[in-house]
Amino acid sequence: MNKVSQHGEWTSRWSFILAATGSAVGLGNIWKFPYITGENGGGAFVLVYLICICLIGIPIMMAEIVLGRQGRQSPINTMRDLAKKAGAHRYWSLVGWLGVIAGFLILSYYSVIAGWAMAYVVRVASGMFDGATGDGVKNIFVQFISDPEKLLAWHSLFMILTMLVVARGIKGLERAVKFLMPSLFVLLLLLVGYSMSQGAFGQGVSFMFNLDFSKLSGESVLTAMGHAFFTISLGMGAIMVYGAYLPSNVSIASTTLVIVIADTLVALLAGLVIFPIVFANGLEPASGPGLIFQTLPIAFGHMGFGAFFGTLFFVLLVFAAWSSSISLIEPAVSWLVENKKISRMRACIWAGLATWFVGVGTVLSFNYMSDVTLFGRTFFDLLDFLTANIMLPLGGICIAIFAGWIISKQSSEEELGLPRGGYYEAWRFLVKYISPAAVIIVFMNVVGIL
Ligand code: PFF
Repeated sequence: MNKVSQHGEWTSRWSFILAATGSAVGLGNIWKFPYITGENGGGAFVLVYLICICLIGIPIMMAEIVLGRQGRQSPINTMRDLAKKAGAHRYWSLVGWLGVIAGFLILSYYSVIAGWAMAYVVRVASGMFDGATGDGVKNIFVQFISDPEKLLAWHSLFMILTMLVVARGIKGLERAVKFLMPSLFVLLLLLVGYSMSQGAFGQGVSFMFNLDFSKLSGESVLTAMGHAFFTISLGMGAIMVYGAYLPSNVSIASTTLVIVIADTLVALLAGLVIFPIVFANGLEPASGPGLIFQTLPIAFGHMGFGAFFGTLFFVLLVFAAWSSSISLIEPAVSWLVENKKISRMRACIWAGLATWFVGVGTVLSFNYMSDVTLFGRTFFDLLDFLTANIMLPLGGICIAIFAGWIISKQSSEEELGLPRGGYYEAWRFLVKYISPAAVIIVFMNVVGIL
């Protein structure tokens, strides 16, 4: 099918790689990966996460791009049309809906955390952390999140920035990301240098890579799997919708590998920065969502030109979050434009307002509503659990099953264009059997069936 998307097309293979890497690399790598690794005991958790990336993440990412490029529309309409073409039930479009809802819920809290990163740009730049101790940095963070007005202001600003880019299309961000992502990488390397010289590097490394399976509960495995989906933006149609704008001659497999390797490297580097600082300063690896905000400022407070590098780091983190957030809402916006016949601008205003509103719940869950819990989780924890650990893997299995069982072998084989030598057969085996089975086993294990 050589349809062209009504929303346009990437100008080159590299534009797609940058946009998809921009979507993948974000708060998930630098903020979430270190803190959930800290909460789940380290090495064994990291290993499960890496296995999930290889066995589930890579094949499903390829499947999402295949489907996106064949449908060339928003994920909801792509799923509907491909199902129709394959003679399958039109209910397959529900997978697109699941993704739209997941993206919308994720963005609602993602924006609040990106707001923290913006606030920290100003704080680090002002020299607030110069010479600060672990306790001092912690107090500043605790005071900050107990002020709902501040959190709300930053959340609102981040939502406006996101919707501005989505409203104008992705060209501008494409250009910015081209230069910002490599800078982020270089800065992370610089921080690894700091951690090696000033942090408890050996202890940090052994925490991240020593395999102690006794610390791994069923729920940790679910979190590792959920994070594999979250970090490479899978299971909700973000990569599918980017795939819809991918020129037909670009190789899906090699592009997928570039994206996944870049994403994994950034996460591992972030861990290598954070944990040595945690151990050198007597902090707790299981400090939760505040972890990077309580560790990195210590590094910046003590290194030469720390205020400068610190400011730069948080600016880059905001950009990384920004290029991810636009992909979280693009499936919804593209659907509104296609089906409600409204302009991109209007679609953005509606989608943005709704997301902002749900985000208020997350803002309050760190202060006024921090004692309000359901199933032992605050509003933020619940949203995070539900989206990353349940909705994304569920969306992922459906996408794998659809690509492996429903669309014709000939069409996926042509679309992937893999060289001979069993590569295509290996991919098909993974999406047909291994990825869905792995997700189901992890789910069953958590509910206690296994
Ligand atoms: N991959 C992003 C991150 O790691 O921060 C988050 C994300 C973006 C998740 C887009 C899902 C998505 F569709």
